[in-house]
Amino acid sequence: MAKEKTIWFCTSCGNESPKWLGRCPACGEWNTMVEQTVATGKPAKTPAPAGHKPQQLRDIGSAQEHRISLNNGEVDRLLGGGLVEGSLVLIGGEPGIGKSTLSLQIPLGCKGLRTLYVSGEESPRQVKMRAERLGGDMDNCLILSETRMETILEAARAEKPGLVIVDSVQTMYSENIDSSAGSVSQIKEVASMLLYFAKSTGIPVILIGHITKDGYIAGPKILEHIVDVVLQFEGDDKGPYRLLRSIKNRFGSTSELAVFEMTGKGLREVTNPSEMLIPMHEENLSGTAIAATLDGLRPFLFEVQALVSTAAYGTAQRSATGFDVRRLNMLLAVLERRAGFKLNTKDVFLNMAGGLRILDPACDLAVVCAVLSSNFDFAIPHDVCFAGEVGLSGEIRPVNQLDRRITEASRLGFRKIYISKYASVPKVEGILIVKVADIPALVKSLFRG
Ligand code: TYD
Ligand code: MG
Repeated sequence: MAKEKTIWFCTSCGNESPKWLGRCPACGEWNTMVEQTVATGKPAKTPAPAGHKPQQLRDIGSAQEHRISLNNGEVDRLLGGGLVEGSLVLIGGEPGIGKSTLSLQIPLGCKGLRTLYVSGEESPRQVKMRAERLGGDMDNCLILSETRMETILEAARAEKPGLVIVDSVQTMYSENIDSSAGSVSQIKEVASMLLYFAKSTGIPVILIGHITKDGYIAGPKILEHIVDVVLQFEGDDKGPYRLLRSIKNRFGSTSELAVFEMTGKGLREVTNPSEMLIPMHEENLSGTAIAATLDGLRPFLFEVQALVSTAAYGTAQRSATGFDVRRLNMLLAVLERRAGFKLNTKDVFLNMAGGLRILDPACDLAVVCAVLSSNFDFAIPHDVCFAGEVGLSGEIRPVNQLDRRITEASRLGFRKIYISKYASVPKVEGILIVKVADIPALVKSLFRG
């Protein structure tokens, strides 16, 4: 009989320790260790190696992996051009954001792909009701309501489908492990069983995992090392827009972003995100500026909104949604020290349109312009946009892929784009490129020109 012992796991990175620690030595997070009972003495299943002997690199065939199109342009693009045979894909996100909806839409929208959809959360009738709501082709989708991994894999081996979807990793358990479903050791075991299944049969597996609000994850973070691809749902689950981001991809690039709209009939692909992120109003409003940003390789434009008002009580408030508040503070300090704007007695609120979370430094310039526009109550014309990083001495720095950003701005009907003086870009038809060296030059050109 297998012996039992207790191990402490870090829920943030999956690090193991024989005793409790206040701070995980591997990832440095505090209070993340949880106690788990694990059985010892049973060998862990690992993926079968492709060959038993080492091979010469030059002799290994370089044929492209075979990819399966999911008939969903945005998901295919995130995956790097379709689902690779034998791959294990994790879709993570908060409860209620649309993971089950998206994963059920895949077989319904993909006629030729026989899919086994395993749900540990919903009965077959509930899945059917959802499928009816979503519409699509129901001929190729097998539903199994089950949480025992051994039964699931037996069914999958017998049915030999083209794709297996498992919803969700937290509800599944294996008999190899004594702890309850959702514990760290069960999650690891379930994922490695699915990985072994995918690699040994060539059948791709999509695995769904829940993430809690604060990103404190008993699951997906631990699984990131095991799976081939991690797609993560983000965004505001109250609003209609959901963002799916690729965080890890062994077969394609990361930092790609897809935008979906949650409708009454499931998730609709938004192929041109700029359209939803740019305001529809024609008249000019102060406190807004359009940034030309990039996700992965695709440029898109969105609105930055700022509100600057006199602080009611001595200390000014600074708050930012979708933008790093420390970076906002830095930009405000630059405006104060390098361009003489007295903002230390003002409250500043910043918001990125559509619930986006922006990390691209090229948005600095639009943030600065939105703040100044609100401060002066001076509207920036609606056909002007910005792409530039702001440095600590108030200089405006060039950003990557400027030509793509400018071309996209021109395509969307913008007539003027402000960029760094130090960038070299070719002329683009239909749009005036204004080059500015620093904040004072920008203010002169934009607000006093
Ligand atoms: P769901 O896919 O169940 O979320 P998850 O699996 O990530 O927990 O999505 C649930 C939400 O989506 C729920 O609030 C209802 C909404 N929804 C729609 O608006 N339209 C639809 O067609 C469907 C199926 C769900
Ligand atoms: Mg679900």
